[in-house]
Amino acid sequence: LILVIDYGSQYNQLITRRIRELGVYSELHNPSITIEKIKELEPKGIILSGGPRSVYAEDAFTVDPAVFDLGVPVLGICYGMQLMMQLNGGEVVNSDQKESGATELNLNNEVDIFKGWDKIETVLMSHGDKVTQLGDGFSVIAQTNLCPNAAVKHDEKPFYGVQFHPESKHTHKGEQFLKNFIRDICDCTGEWTMDNFIDIEINKIRETVGDKKVLCAMSGGVDSSVTAVLLHRAIGDQLTCIFVDHGLLRKGEADMVMEQFGEGFNMNIIKVDAKDRFMSKLKGVSDPEQKRKIIGNEFIYVFDDEASKLTEVDYLAQGTLYTDIIESGTETATTIKSHHNVGGLPEDMQFELIEPLNTLFKDEVRELGVELGIPEHLVWRQPFPGPGLGIRILGEITEEKLEIVRESDWILRDEIAKAGLEREIWQYFTVLPNIRSVGVTGDYRTYDYTIGIRAVTSIDGMTSDFARIDWDVLERISKRLVNESKHINRVVYDVTSKPPATIEWE
Ligand code: XMP
Repeated sequence: LILVIDYGSQYNQLITRRIRELGVYSELHNPSITIEKIKELEPKGIILSGGPRSVYAEDAFTVDPAVFDLGVPVLGICYGMQLMMQLNGGEVVNSDQKESGATELNLNNEVDIFKGWDKIETVLMSHGDKVTQLGDGFSVIAQTNLCPNAAVKHDEKPFYGVQFHPESKHTHKGEQFLKNFIRDICDCTGEWTMDNFIDIEINKIRETVGDKKVLCAMSGGVDSSVTAVLLHRAIGDQLTCIFVDHGLLRKGEADMVMEQFGEGFNMNIIKVDAKDRFMSKLKGVSDPEQKRKIIGNEFIYVFDDEASKLTEVDYLAQGTLYTDIIESGTETATTIKSHHNVGGLPEDMQFELIEPLNTLFKDEVRELGVELGIPEHLVWRQPFPGPGLGIRILGEITEEKLEIVRESDWILRDEIAKAGLEREIWQYFTVLPNIRSVGVTGDYRTYDYTIGIRAVTSIDGMTSDFARIDWDVLERISKRLVNESKHINRVVYDVTSKPPATIEWE
């Protein structure tokens, strides 16, 4: 295990993910982790990650200095390096000159951690503070024009610090660097696979749950399906899935879920028709965050109601991914938007949560799904957000608007499938902005809705690019949308990447 301590950079989970890609198990933990807990985890290496704060700030996150007495290699990245210097008698101050973006790094001599690097390499820098005095026993091993202490190494112990971000693809040989640290310096063998993840998680689930019962929020999407199947494998009939039809699902979805998982996987699924409850709570609400909160809360209330009909349910399992947590804000990172299955939880919730996927990215969840034996066509379903079509209707949600997005989504999915683009495009859907415009049909003036098509390519949903769909395919989609929907007279295509836009419009 490589332990990564999270100081709040949006990209910290990328570090653990890169390590897993190198075949080594890795976990991200909060800075509040105690030295006892660290010892219990028996890490073969520790990484102190990046973060937005300053190590000299009053509310700065830190780590028990005893980590330097464990006899385990430690790598500090950005904030982590500054912290390492400070805790070992060095000094960090605010710099007048920020250094950010791709930067040339000059190496001094051959050092083990830079094995395979040339004397000059491109790295990603992103810092405002600088180390002015090294910690005791450390020497400089690389610098940039603006940063004389860009990488340091302890003279006797396996402690390293780098001001740049090796986890970023902008650091061209970042993977090699992490590999050097993990394989050579921490002496990890690199034999970890998704199969091991399944074993580790199944054991954790069994340990946590004991002979208690678990409810699973099953939506039929990739995340909750994988969660449910993983739990089912761990605890069998102790798992009951509840599938809430909140009325914001895609066309045909409810039947598909019941068939595939209830009958196909032989899981215990209760379907709840809660459409009216959701619609009455959402009436008159147009603010996106409020809509998300309402849907998230109502979801849990429905669960509570259903669970109270069952006996002795203690846990609620959710398919929360790492990206959901990070974008909803963690203790150390800031909020971008509150994702349904995290930010919306009511405070008086009656369950304890089990979130076995919360360290994984989407593509890793798909890999896990395949390992668990879920059919490819299910594993490769595009992601669908918890708040469903509710966040694809801008402004107030009405029955009429729901019908328009549901039908248009169906047409879009059908055409994308016919064009054989389902895998190439990561996610594709229609959105209904609150816009009407003038059109003409036959000899008549129309004044009707505009529908937007959003189609993106992405690896993990953290960033995305708009899909370069062929004009002819777009034309076919556009014609069908206008012809088959009663209320659409204009179709637009969203050509924004993430960032600056998010994938969903709300
Ligand atoms: P954004 O819009 O934040 O979306 O760029 C990134 C990915 O997350 C999905 N998404 C959600 N998934 N609950 C979920 O389970 C949510 O509340 C939620 N909001 C967005 C979105 O569809 C995209 O795949």
